[in-house]
Amino acid sequence: MAYVKISPMRAPREATTAPSPTAPATEAVLLVGGKGTRLRPLTVHTPKPMVPAAGVPFLTHQLARARAAGIEHIVLATSYLAEVFEPYFGDGSALGLHLEYVTETDPLGTGGAIRNAAHRLHSAPGDPVLVFNGDILTGLDIRALVATHRGAGADVSLHLTRVPDPRAFGLVPTDADGRVTAFLEKPQAPEEIVTDQINAGAYVFTRSVIDAIPAGRPVSVERETFPDLLAAGAHLQGMVDSTYWLDLGTPQAFVRGSADLVLGRAPSPAVPGRCGERLVLPGADVAEDAKLSGGTSVAARAVIGAGARVDGSAILPGAWIEPGAVVKNSLVGAGARVGSRTILDGVVVGDGAHVGPDNELRDGVRVWCGARIEQGAIRFSSDM
Ligand code: GDD
Ligand code: MG
Repeated sequence: MAYVKISPMRAPREATTAPSPTAPATEAVLLVGGKGTRLRPLTVHTPKPMVPAAGVPFLTHQLARARAAGIEHIVLATSYLAEVFEPYFGDGSALGLHLEYVTETDPLGTGGAIRNAAHRLHSAPGDPVLVFNGDILTGLDIRALVATHRGAGADVSLHLTRVPDPRAFGLVPTDADGRVTAFLEKPQAPEEIVTDQINAGAYVFTRSVIDAIPAGRPVSVERETFPDLLAAGAHLQGMVDSTYWLDLGTPQAFVRGSADLVLGRAPSPAVPGRCGERLVLPGADVAEDAKLSGGTSVAARAVIGAGARVDGSAILPGAWIEPGAVVKNSLVGAGARVGSRTILDGVVVGDGAHVGPDNELRDGVRVWCGARIEQGAIRFSSDM
């Protein structure tokens, strides 16, 4: 495949400039079509970006952060449960955005999804276009990534972050100038673990590079497009930073991210209330002596009973935490019920599930949507 390098880059526009069909770096593609399998059962009825974090669908935080960085036009690349996005976000005007939707009937992978969205972009061939994975919570300076791209005259620029164990991510070694030297997606062999720098899931593509991705078939940007570009001598630039970064792809990470949003550790203009130990949305019913801490969020119509303690957890709409229950680092799905004196620690309770009283569930247990667990049925230790 041929990738044409366009130069010189266009001059940056002022952030205050009115929207124009050719405005560079004011448009983005957001990838929201994945099945979110690692997040089941949260994603059985809801696509990952629509699962509430700090009281609103997670995607709201990404959209609001993009808008705050001057992006005006966003194309949502949907596939799994595609039909739920537009009824919620509409044309995006409530967030000051112009939102459009494209849907893949069969998932096209990350690269195929970006290519499939290209016909909705307004940019000229040499303009930068932002692309975001739809499950990343980060304090990335989006404007700085675009400035890095322009400064380097790159074909693609990637946000990189450092993690202690990079094996679940795309490894991206760079040279002394920050130029990407290889792209190794989820390497298994020990000799391939050559760096702790990983692809953080935000890119600036020069528009012509998007147009050169093959159309109409699945393409992985990580396994095909980036390695092919490097082999063809294209310029991929990395920008490493140490800002807040979390992939919300697992239940544990999702619950952490939601709590960090409430606590103000993770930046978002879309948290619907003041930052603090807890976020209680209008319409929730919390008993006076219930204790909410650690960034817990309680959605509308949720009920927290007398003496219950909820720490670092997300309680979704209509969920019911009965008196004396203890819920820690857990997510309780919409309409689910947690019985009196039951202890949850590091647990996901799917939508509509009932965990009866006097149970003890810990360490990664996932209660499937609609499941019923009887009183005192599950213990984790003998001293309860
Ligand atoms: N439209 C569409 N179609 N979107 C998709 C598809 C598809 O076929 N497949 C995945 N996506 C979206 C997901 O919804 C998600 O927002 C994003 O693309 C990345 O997919 P994940 O499934 O979350 O990938 P990952 O977390 O295993 O790995 C990716 O992210 C890491 C950073 O968190 C890769 O980009 C890694 O290289 C990277 O390190
Ligand atoms: Mg992910």
